[in-house]
Amino acid sequence: MIKGGFDIPAQENERQAEYASLARSIIESRFSAKPKAFVHTYGCQGNVADGERLKGMLERMGYEFTDDVAQADLVLYNTCAVREHAEDRVFGNVGALKTLKTQNRDMRIFLCGCMVQQPHIAEKFYKSYPFVDVIFGTNALHRLPEFLYRSLSSGKRIVEIPSGDGFIAEDIPVRRDSSFKAWLPIMYGCNNFCTYCIVPYVRGRERSRDPERILEEARSLVKDGYKEITLLGQNVNSYGKNPDTGYNFARLLREINDIEGDFIIRFMTSHPKDCTRELLETMAECEKVAKHLHLPFQSGSDRILKLMNRGYTSQQYLDLVETAYSLIPDLSITADVIVGFPGETYEDFEMTERLVEKAGFTSMFTFIYSPREGTKAAAMDDPVSAEEKGRWFRELLDLQEGIAARRTAQCVGKTYRALCEGVAKSGNIEARTSGNFIIEIPADESVRGTFRDVRVTAAKTWMLSGEII
Ligand code: SAH
Ligand code: SF4
Ligand code: F3S
Repeated sequence: MIKGGFDIPAQENERQAEYASLARSIIESRFSAKPKAFVHTYGCQGNVADGERLKGMLERMGYEFTDDVAQADLVLYNTCAVREHAEDRVFGNVGALKTLKTQNRDMRIFLCGCMVQQPHIAEKFYKSYPFVDVIFGTNALHRLPEFLYRSLSSGKRIVEIPSGDGFIAEDIPVRRDSSFKAWLPIMYGCNNFCTYCIVPYVRGRERSRDPERILEEARSLVKDGYKEITLLGQNVNSYGKNPDTGYNFARLLREINDIEGDFIIRFMTSHPKDCTRELLETMAECEKVAKHLHLPFQSGSDRILKLMNRGYTSQQYLDLVETAYSLIPDLSITADVIVGFPGETYEDFEMTERLVEKAGFTSMFTFIYSPREGTKAAAMDDPVSAEEKGRWFRELLDLQEGIAARRTAQCVGKTYRALCEGVAKSGNIEARTSGNFIIEIPADESVRGTFRDVRVTAAKTWMLSGEII
């Protein structure tokens, strides 16, 4: 264990292991067949990775899984707080469980994740949703066995929202959703405190996992046949700083790249203020690292960037983009942007449009600013109406649509090595290129989880069609 690390003490892990076996005995005596759990995760890939750990713990305690909430003995919502819309969906979905619970009084309803890590939200659920049994915050994820045991044995309601900087929970069983794509968290939390963002409040301080643990997990994923490994962190470029692991992100990437096997490495998210030339050079040199950089810029106005506490100017961002394209010519860059930050004017917004025109993103996630209680921005004056922000939002979507269409058109006639993934609505297979383009190909499901050379035959704005060659 790294000195000054954030690992959960061994005793606590043993305590949870005891709870897990106690819960298992109750489950075995109470249910004739395996009980069913419905687990749903909202939010980012980091939360999805947590969801796979929650499922791993439940599986070990004797649950199987269902997609039909009405069939569930246990409902677990792993929530997100990043925007109001995310929270509204959870309130709606939890509210809808009330009737189910009256039909099945033994059903247990558990809520966890970022949204309920906020004390005012936990309190609201506790007071106004009496059919919710257990509410636990992000700092208590590893204590699911304890909560399950206590809830099953006493029937009492539980709220546990430990404050503090957060832990690293190692050795939790993982039940992965895919057999060929894996999430690999390399760090947790965030120290950046962008003024609009709730994440640092609900996820605690930035903490990096031990590189040996990460490499070990990566090796075993490759051995198990995983073809895509996505390294996760809110700001992967500051990997290894807290605590000092002796590795920076570039070195970690290189060592994962050195693992023998046929697989692709992705990562997210890169914060522009910490994105170094060394990282870009590493991306260029490492043949397994996807030629895709997700680099959120949030705004093109220096005044707004400053108010957001982002730590770079629009010119610095564009210089970085230029360096990245020059070092990695076939690079695809995607980004996040916020429209309607408090005090943003149409002139600020136009600077965002100029940046978007210059950067040439392959795709962009556009969000309308959503005030989050407790953040600095939530206390700032926000005079622009929702309608006006909506107009800017659509204007930006239109602009990016034209740029994306040009990017996809450039792909026609070219051949890419792509990982065949899911089945599209059309029935075609979706193959993902290194640059994160999706090509729809007519093929049967047997190709899923394999790399194929795919020639692009046609392009629509966001979508490519092609064929395996
Ligand atoms: N750590 C990542 C982002 C995590 S949140 C980074 O720094 O890039 C994902 C995206 O949600 C952010 O990039 C931002 O564009 C958006 N977002 C976060 N808080 C928001 C808020 N209060 N309102 C609107 N969008 C927000
Ligand atoms: Fe939020 Fe900023 Fe941290 Fe990203 S870097 S999670 S936007 S505070
Ligand atoms: Fe949402 Fe928490 Fe991720 S707030 S975006 S689930 S870190």
